[in-house]
Amino acid sequence: MKILVTGGTGFIGSHTCVELLNEGNEVVIIDNLYNSQADVVEKIEEITKKSVKFYEGDCCDEAVLEKIFSDHNIDAVIHFAGYKAVGESVQKPIMYYENNLMSTLALCKVMAKYGCKKLVFSSSATVYGNPNSVPIHEDFPLGPTTNPYGTTKLMIEQILRDVFVSDDQWSIALLRYFNPIGAHDSGLIGENPNDIPNNLMPYIVKVANKELPVLHVFGNDYDTHDGTGVRDYIHVVDLAKGHVNAVAKVLKDTGVDAYNLGTGNGYSVLDVVETFKRVNNVDVPYQVDPRRPGDIAECFASTDKALKELGWKAEKGLEEMCKDAWSYVSKVKKV
Ligand code: NAD
Ligand code: UFG
Repeated sequence: MKILVTGGTGFIGSHTCVELLNEGNEVVIIDNLYNSQADVVEKIEEITKKSVKFYEGDCCDEAVLEKIFSDHNIDAVIHFAGYKAVGESVQKPIMYYENNLMSTLALCKVMAKYGCKKLVFSSSATVYGNPNSVPIHEDFPLGPTTNPYGTTKLMIEQILRDVFVSDDQWSIALLRYFNPIGAHDSGLIGENPNDIPNNLMPYIVKVANKELPVLHVFGNDYDTHDGTGVRDYIHVVDLAKGHVNAVAKVLKDTGVDAYNLGTGNGYSVLDVVETFKRVNNVDVPYQVDPRRPGDIAECFASTDKALKELGWKAEKGLEEMCKDAWSYVSKVKKV
C-alpha cells in the first residue's frame, strides 16, 4: 500500500514511516520542517534500506497536497502534521487553531477530491480532560480541555466525525496517544528538542547530559503512590506499530473510531527518574517544585479496545524506553 504521512519527519511520524516500510508499504512524506530536519528522511532510509518520497511543503497548502495526490496513488493517509506544545498554544492560540485545523481541513478536501477516504489521525489523551477515574476508556466523556492545543484535537475529532456523517465511505481512526517517549534502537531517530523541553523525558535527558542543572518535579502532593504525577509512558516504536495496525483497519472497514494507544501502566515522575538513573548509570538531580497549572494527578489507558479491534498492544517496558531515550541523545552528542 502507498501511505501519505503528513509530519513524517517529526518524532512519531519518522518512527511510523520506519514501521510502515518494514511491513512492505511505500511511504510519501509531506512536512514543512517547522519542527524537524530534512536529514530524517535519509535516516529512515538508512534504517529500512528502502527509499521514501519527500515533499517539503505545508499541509495547509491545497496545491501541494493536490500535487502529491496527482503524482501518487495514495491508499491511506496518516495525519501527524501539527503544532504540539501545550504552553505555547496558550500564548499563541490563533497560530495553533490555524495550523492544526486548516491543515486537517485542506487534507480532507483534497483526499475527498481524489477519492482517498482512509485516514488515521493523531489525537491525544488530552481530549479526556481531567478523567473521573483511571484507566481511561474510549467512551469516557471528552473535555473540557485545559489548553488550546487540546481543544484543537477535540475539534478535529468532531470535524472528522462530521465528515463521516456526510459521507459513509470514509474510514477514520482517531488515535489518542498517551505519553510517547524513547527512540528507535538504531539511535538514528528520536526526540531532541532545541529549546528547553516542556515534557518530562526530554528534560530528564538534558539534565543527565548536564545541559540543564536540575529537574523540576512539579508537585509531590498528588494522591498517587509517591505524590508525583502518574502517566502512561509508551515507547515510540510501539506507538508507531499501532499506526500500522490502524492503517490496516481503515483500509478494511468504514466508520470513525477512537483508540487509546498506551500501555495501561501508570508510572510516577519519580519512578521514571529512578529507572532512568538505574538503567543508564547516570545522575539526574531533581528538586520538588509546586504543581504545574493544568496538570492532572493520574492518567493511564485502558488498552482493551486497541487490542480487540486493532490487534495491537504495547510490548516495551519503562527500562527500554529510558535506555533508548538516552542512547539516542548520547549518540547525537558524539556526532
Ligand atoms: P513533531 O513536532 O515531532 O512532529 C510534527 C511534524 O509536523 C513536524 O515535523 C513539523 O515540522 C510538521 N508540521 C507541523 N505543521 C505542519 C504543516 N502545516 N504542514 C506540514 N508539516 C507540518 O510532533 P510529534 O511528537 O511527532 O507529534 C505528532 C502528532 O502527534 C502531532 O499531531 C501531535 O499533536 C500528536 N501528539 C503528540 C504527542 C506527544 O507527546 N509527542 C502526544 C499526543 C499527540
Ligand atoms: N513533569 C515534571 N517536570 C517536568 C516536566 C514534567 O515533573 O519538567 C511531570 C508533569 O507534572 C507530569 C509528568 O511529568 O506529572 C508528565 O508531564 P509531560 O509534560 O511529559 O506530559 P503531560 O502528561 O503533561 O502531557 C503529554 C503531552 C501532551 C498530551 C498529554 C496527554 O505533552 O501533548 O501528554 O496525552 F496532550
